[in-house]
Amino acid sequence: MLHFLTKESGKNMIDLKTNYLGLELNNPLIVGSCGLTKNADKMYECQKAGAGAVVVKSLFEEALALEQIKLSEALEDHPEAYDYKYANIEKMYGSEQYCEIIREAKRKLNIPVIASLNCISEKWWKNYAKQVEEAGADAIELNIYTTVYNEAVSASEVEYNYLRIAESVRKSVDIPVAIKISKYITAFPNLAFLLEKRGINGLVMFNKFVEPDIDISKMELRSVFNFSKPEDFRVTLRWIGILSGERDIDLCASTGIFDAEDAIKVLLAGGKSFQVVSAIYNNGLSHIRVILDGITEWMKKNNYSSIEEFRGKLSFKSSELNNQFLRAQFIEKTDI
Ligand SMILES: Cc1cc2nc3c(=O)[nH]c(=O)nc-3n(C[C@H](O)[C@H](O)[C@H](O)COP(=O)(O)O)c2cc1C
Repeated sequence: MLHFLTKESGKNMIDLKTNYLGLELNNPLIVGSCGLTKNADKMYECQKAGAGAVVVKSLFEEALALEQIKLSEALEDHPEAYDYKYANIEKMYGSEQYCEIIREAKRKLNIPVIASLNCISEKWWKNYAKQVEEAGADAIELNIYTTVYNEAVSASEVEYNYLRIAESVRKSVDIPVAIKISKYITAFPNLAFLLEKRGINGLVMFNKFVEPDIDISKMELRSVFNFSKPEDFRVTLRWIGILSGERDIDLCASTGIFDAEDAIKVLLAGGKSFQVVSAIYNNGLSHIRVILDGITEWMKKNNYSSIEEFRGKLSFKSSELNNQFLRAQFIEKTDI
């Protein structure tokens, strides 16, 4: 339609709306789970800055588990006291505090608020999911990852565990559920297929980890977390491109999206939305508007009025030159 309009008249018609997990977003930019989304006020700032949705800073089961261990050690001889105290601990460190953040965010914000769960044991995945749904979360993002260090655990067992968690959460809530997945998976298409069969609505590619390091002066182990770098984007683009259009599961790009150009590439590859964290830490919340304005400008220049008009145009499935997505080795680059 817009192809028949002048650039000037088309200017007012640019629509950045997208549908992600069945939720209508004003635009595809989601502020990913991080310190910028750790409470309702901060999430409100993200909304004011133009975000299409927010993912709340994760609820980590470890915090609760740690308290549980300390407490059970302290109360070993008093099981009845343990039960009583445990109920309080759960309130203090667990889901109750988190649910209050979601309730407050839902009162203050009018963009979708996506809860993020990061659990270990199956019991908590289910319990927390139900509780955040009741608190009003519009969707749930499950950040599933454990470091496998036991030689008896096979790759298929690891993936089976993903499926088990996905299935059990899916059965316990009615809101949309996305899985934030690790980039260290061998066969994404198969896993995506199996998750979709279990009713999972979206894949967030990818999660990011705290990594181990060694302090050689103190002779100590330590953990480090680095912000993403622009080159981290390549692996995100590859898998969004390969998986998109193949199945009925929404793809949300996460890792290495720094500017409008990256965002446009993700959409051309078929992503429904994208998450930004490091770029906002680096440049401030005003960077949200810079990215959105950049997408709008590009759409104007290319005579697109809506994202659906170009989304997926250069995915693996749609593009004739799709071999670029598969090529992983330096076939022609022997001169470097
Ligand atoms: C300070 C900080 C805190 C984060 N906390 C969480 C978290 O609680 N849960 C989670 O799933 N991801 C967390 N992340 C990861 C981000 O959501 C995102 O996946 C990652 O930073 C990659 O996106 P980026 O390249 O735009 O930074 C955090 C990232 C940062 C920088």
